[in-house]
Formats: sequence, C-alpha cells, structure tokens
Amino acid sequence: MNARKIIVDCDPGIDDALALMLLLRSPEVEILGITVVCGNVPTAVGAENALKILSWMDRPDIPVYTGEESPLTRSYVDARDTHGSDGLGETFYPSVTSVRPHRDAVQFLADTLAKAKETEEKITILALGPLTNIARLIERHPDCLDAIDGFYSMGGCYRSHGNCSPVAEYNYWCDPHAAKAVFDAFASLPQLSGRQIQMIGLDVTRKIVLTPNLIEYLCRLNPEIGEKVRRITRFYVDFHWKQEGIIGCVINDPLAAAYLIDHSLCTGFSAHTEVETEGICLGQSVVDAFGFWDVPENSYILTRTSPLRFMEMFFERLTGIAAEKLSPALRQLMAPDSADMEGSL
Ligand code: BDR
Ligand code: CA
Repeated sequence: MNARKIIVDCDPGIDDALALMLLLRSPEVEILGITVVCGNVPTAVGAENALKILSWMDRPDIPVYTGEESPLTRSYVDARDTHGSDGLGETFYPSVTSVRPHRDAVQFLADTLAKAKETEEKITILALGPLTNIARLIERHPDCLDAIDGFYSMGGCYRSHGNCSPVAEYNYWCDPHAAKAVFDAFASLPQLSGRQIQMIGLDVTRKIVLTPNLIEYLCRLNPEIGEKVRRITRFYVDFHWKQEGIIGCVINDPLAAAYLIDHSLCTGFSAHTEVETEGICLGQSVVDAFGFWDVPENSYILTRTSPLRFMEMFFERLTGIAAEKLSPALRQLMAPDSADMEGSL
C-alpha cells in the first residue's frame, strides 16, 4: 500500500491524543511529523503530550515540533477546563525523557513542503487545533504551498451551534485571524487553486460520542490501550456531564483523522466559507451554502456521518480486530440509528 504522507498539526488535548492513536495504527498514512500549536494547552505542554502518545504507541521515531505559542492577534485562551491542567485529563503521566521536541514547527512544515515540491511528491496536512501554525506557514513560506494536496481542518460549524459561543467552535474561536487567513488563502492563492479545506466541524463531530459502555468494551478487547483511553477520558466525560448533561464525551479530532483515511465516512458540500474576527460572532465559520457571494468555493463542509461506521474503524485500529467482528457488539452498545448517516441540525 502506498501510504499517504501526512503532517499532523495539533494541540493535544484528549481527543487529539485519540486521533493520533488511530492514525498511528493506520497503514494508509505515514506521519512525517507532528507539529504542535497553542490551543487546548500551551504549546510546550501539547508537545510533551504528543511524545507520550508516541511512546505509548511505540513510535518514538516520529519527530514532534513546537510551534506558535500565541494566536496571531487575540489573547490566548486555553481549554484546560475541558482537557485538564495537563491536557490529558489530569492523568499526569510522566514526561518522555528519551526523546525531546524539536523547535520551529513552521520551518519544519515549510522545509517538508519545499522538499516535496522539488521531488514532485504531495503532502496532506491534518489540522486538529487552532490554525496559527498554518497561517504563519502561508504568510512566511507561500512558495511551498503547491505541495499540499489535501488540507483537513477539525473546526467550525455550519448549522450546529458552537462550543465556545452560540456560533463559534473552539479551534476557530481561539485564533479567528489565523482561521480567516487560511480560508482566505484557499480562496485566492494560485498555489492552492483546485484545492479546498475539508472542514470537519461540529455538525458531524458532535455525533461521535464515546460512552462509558464503549470504553468498557475497548478495555475488554485491549486492556492496555483501553485503560489508557479510560484514564485520559474520565475528566472529559465529567466535563460533558457538567456542560451538556450527557454521559460520554464528544471526540471531535478522531473523526477528522478517520475521514482523511476513508472519505465514505462523511458527506457534505462545497461552498465559500469566511471566518468572522470581531464582535459577538467572533470565530464563526460563515458558510455561503447558497452562493450569495458568487466567489470561489474554498471549502468542503461535512454535514453527515455514520457514528457506527466511525466506531468500527476506531475500534478496529485500536484493537487490531476486524470491524466485522466488532460490529454486533458496537450495534448493541450504540443508538439503534447510529449506522445511518446522521445529518446536521
Ligand atoms: C476542538 O477543540 C478542542 O478542544 C478539541 O481538541 C477539538 O480539536 C473541538 O472544538
Ligand atoms: Ca484539538
């Protein structure tokens, strides 16, 4: 299999950690590096967490780079209320000392893309946090962007409500100026023409709820990984109970990773999207679904997904057991309609 070469830009974060676990067990992708941005936790903390995940999954060979430490313009607001003070649900697993993070994520992104451009290779970027590193890449190294053949961003929302304000999702709300710069670049830069941002927003990720029953099933199948997942998600489950009154936790970032691997997990539509940087709609992704503005479509907006099919892939990758074998128990543990493509509100 010819693995797709990807760079994961992230802010680990509990759901980022789960996305990395899924990717590290997926032969369809080769992770060239993990670049960390400030978001859920400060950049240095996120980089420590990335190293922990790589060590758990026995992949210390993948380099981790620290990136931007504050949003472009706005003051930094972390999400430690959601992810815990250590970003991994206050589990305080010891830091990895045998390997350390490298510096300058933006330079790593630029060097990797420039080299790929020379050798006519293509690179896919999966962005699971605020888009600050990517905005800096676009600003400082516009010449290497031709080598990007896929850009996936977990962020935003179309019809679903936000999770930081009535209209804004965290990654775009944390650094709205960066999100705007990236969406604008995909609408206007010739180096990016013909490509769209795959926007995996709350419309679809809200459907992906990891419940205590599912976690229990994972522990039975693979106690080592299952217990890690149970420990790091406990805080996140408590947060969801307090915040949303649900039993379980919404795992946004793994859906973006799963969709990158298998596009049949979600459907959506192409549109021009702008990001608001001011006022009460700060961080809102405004999707021109009806073509009012008559400007180039810069995004593909996901609106429907099958939670069951996602869980089949997630469990298959984390346990090494074929999806067909897992399916009966997953069907029993999930809502009766979870096999359907559930739509946005
Ligand atoms: C996004 O924000 C973060 O808290 C999560 O890691 C995810 O990337 C969801 O709004
Ligand atoms: Ca994230």
